Amino acid sequence: MNPAYEKLQRCYESFRQKIDFKPEIALILGSGLGDYAEGIQVEATLDYHEIQGFPVSTVWGHKGRFVFGYVKEVPVVIMQGRVHYYEGYAMEDVVLPVRLMGLMGAKVLFLTNASGGINYDYKAGDFMLIKGQISSFVPSPLIGPNLDELGVRFPDMSEIYKKDLQEIIRSTARTLEIPLQEGTYIQFTGPAYESPEEIKMARVLGADAVGMSTACEAVAANHMGMQICGISCVTNLACGITDAPLTHEEVKETADRVAPLFKKLVTESIINIYKGMQK
Ligand code: HPA
Repeated sequence: MNPAYEKLQRCYESFRQKIDFKPEIALILGSGLGDYAEGIQVEATLDYHEIQGFPVSTVWGHKGRFVFGYVKEVPVVIMQGRVHYYEGYAMEDVVLPVRLMGLMGAKVLFLTNASGGINYDYKAGDFMLIKGQISSFVPSPLIGPNLDELGVRFPDMSEIYKKDLQEIIRSTARTLEIPLQEGTYIQFTGPAYESPEEIKMARVLGADAVGMSTACEAVAANHMGMQICGISCVTNLACGITDAPLTHEEVKETADRVAPLFKKLVTESIINIYKGMQK
């Protein structure tokens, strides 16, 4: 058997031994949303280090566990703290949690993150509906022997972020009167923030927001047929737009400031997406 699939299976069995819960929607929390899970009806939690062979996240401010529970009636699994490529994990390990949530039964993957705004119309604190992505600057998580059990060797990528899910998020934001930008997310490896020249390049390529996660997760989830949607919290203007140097503190500060609104948008979107799944 493919070693990557064997590892995934081991993690899945380790999860199964401890947790009896079937999520419908998987949610990955970006910076600032870290405490989102505290506001839901929690049924169980599973620390990453309790799962055999699971890559454990180290980045400051991330808790590192799965939370199982209900957002209203919606059974969800929440990743509280994601695994980043810049931490030194193999890309295959970075996306293992996403694949695991797919195996748990989640049909929809709801991605959130913090990003730097590249689009001149964006300001710090904006939310951006992710309509598309550029993942070409990080290694593909699908490199290596294909995991035939999950998906095909050459998966189509023409609609990674599902249009019907985009429309649900769009109309949810409208109802809540929360302004929502829309655009393309580009992933770089980090951990350094980008140079002004790299941001200029990303803008020429059509990117509206930049971050160090998400796109690779979407590639892996798309491969295994999950329905994907995402919202980015633009925590700062990308490097070079202003003269101010970028700091993680600034990113955290903005993310925390807009977190209540972000949570509201995510919660209502999840509820509406689930309604759509029942039809
Ligand atoms: N660049 C990369 N990642 C980020 C940024 C940024 O400007 N802001 C938040 N995450």
